[in-house]
Amino acid sequence: MCGIVGVVGRQANDAIDVLLNGLKRLEYRGYDSAGIYYVDSMNQTDQVVKAVGPIKHLEAEVNQEQRAQTGIGHTRWATHGKASLTNSHPHVSQNERFVLVHNGVIENAAALKATYLQDVTFTSETDSEVIVQLVEHFASTQDVFEAFKHTLTLLEGSYAVLLMDREHTDEMYIAKHKSPLLLAVGEGFNGVCSDALAMIEYTDQFIALVDGDVATIRPTSYEISNLDGIERTPELFTANIDQEAAGKGTYPYFMLKEIDEQPIVMRRLVETYLNKENESAIDASIVEQMMEADRIYIIGCGTSYHAGLVGKKLIEEWTHIPVEVHIASEFAYYPPIISERPFFIFLSQSGETADSRQVLVQTNEMNYPSLTLTNVVGSTLAREATYALYLNAGVEVAVASTKAYTAQVGLLAILAQRVGDQRAIDATSQIDLAHELSMVSLAMEVVLEDKQQFETLAHDFLATTRKAFYIGRGVDYYSSIESALKLKEISYIQTEGFAAGELKHGTISLIEEETPVIGLITEAHTAGQTRSNLSEVASRGAHVLIISNETNAEPTDQYVIKNVHPTLQSLVTILPTQLLAYYATIERGYDVDKPRNLAKSVTVE
Ligand code: F6R
Repeated sequence: MCGIVGVVGRQANDAIDVLLNGLKRLEYRGYDSAGIYYVDSMNQTDQVVKAVGPIKHLEAEVNQEQRAQTGIGHTRWATHGKASLTNSHPHVSQNERFVLVHNGVIENAAALKATYLQDVTFTSETDSEVIVQLVEHFASTQDVFEAFKHTLTLLEGSYAVLLMDREHTDEMYIAKHKSPLLLAVGEGFNGVCSDALAMIEYTDQFIALVDGDVATIRPTSYEISNLDGIERTPELFTANIDQEAAGKGTYPYFMLKEIDEQPIVMRRLVETYLNKENESAIDASIVEQMMEADRIYIIGCGTSYHAGLVGKKLIEEWTHIPVEVHIASEFAYYPPIISERPFFIFLSQSGETADSRQVLVQTNEMNYPSLTLTNVVGSTLAREATYALYLNAGVEVAVASTKAYTAQVGLLAILAQRVGDQRAIDATSQIDLAHELSMVSLAMEVVLEDKQQFETLAHDFLATTRKAFYIGRGVDYYSSIESALKLKEISYIQTEGFAAGELKHGTISLIEEETPVIGLITEAHTAGQTRSNLSEVASRGAHVLIISNETNAEPTDQYVIKNVHPTLQSLVTILPTQLLAYYATIERGYDVDKPRNLAKSVTVE
């Protein structure tokens, strides 16, 4: 959600390429317009270039011959004002001296305008423009860096900001509060970006800025301090991103590649966390703290929340510790009564989700122990929780999360078994989880070999419908909600996931002739009930598709997945539904990887 990239001092004169490549790498975050500001100090020219729509529109606007050494770039996901040239970044101050890009939301923008900027003519509807106009306002009486800091002290909300002064283009001012920002340290140049992926082509050395940091960066130096001027010299970290893996290779879409990677991701989890020689991969104190907890709270949003629901079943079954799962944006403002010895688990693919972070800030204030499971090393939620464990799923680019979901469930299973084992729960100790996850991996591979069938099923059931339902009971209900989210977010078919027994309490009135209802049936003790619910909708005209496992299969079921350990079955159930979502979207002619209105990294509340 909004991407930022900046660079100072590219001797190779290729700053425009650095910005455009960086913005392309950040496309996954979701955006609807983009822009850059570049400076060619050799020829004393500079320019702002913007375009609505994909980066290729922006590229087409840039003069191919133009060279530059320094610049800032931005992809905008509209929050205040529609996607348009005037609302896209960079924003320029009224006297045209200052140029700025911003990620985040300034909640008190209207009040700041009214107090300080009554005489300013705004060119955009954005909250971001307020920042650059305030800098101009204060710079009339203050040194520019002081004016920048003065501005920051007034802002309420979240920001990652890059500011350039057209009178001193050899340096850039940057600041961070709640929105992600990394300093990229190169040889002979310095950069800044929302995600290391944006600069990994040019350097693997980064500094994770923390909330309250403000910095000046130049080609070969940088100074980082807080708003009170107290300097800090943070450690560099090496970003370990496999550039090859970050590309989509021969796949038409990232989503298909990422779906296909799931068996490997399971194996990698086994190697990383279940290898006897590597037992310390899970810090013993995580296990101890979880064992001491009287209740575990799992916090997440969207797909990560759904992974938490499956995790609840796993953890309760294997550790006997009660688990609550909460939607982060609800928990933050309506917290439940918290038990005496809670342990918090944050699930987040990106590690940057503002809603989840809002809760983490609160639990940190209460000194509750916490663990983040995330795919992004050094991300905010990883840094700020007491502990972090990484999914090691490889970069997930498609907006619709697939391999991160199964990795979250897989890692929760590993954690649950470790805790249950330590609590001497016999049934848990006896599970050979490395073997069971390998079987999951094999069962996933079987599904992936049947892609053609899902293409056909998507064509038969989902090509033209306006709505669809997924239903199931128990863990199949949780898989149903996740399956429904996957289908609706990319194919735009209005899809709901329901507890199978609930339909008849109201929603069944929506069933019409040919409404697709997809039943998930993998648990023996409720298979009969779910089949009855499917008969109820079939007799009202629904087009019923059944995905079951071997134990519960009937000859008319359209797809049967392999049996795996019953507690891990949902790791396999989800793959057919990911493929149905993928092929339905292809069939309906939409961009699978970049669904409208959505962002990969949701950094606003
Ligand atoms: C849907 C999807 C989203 C995310 C949600 C939380 O496919 O990806 O629902 O799961 O925005 O994001 P993270 O996991 O990065 O916290």
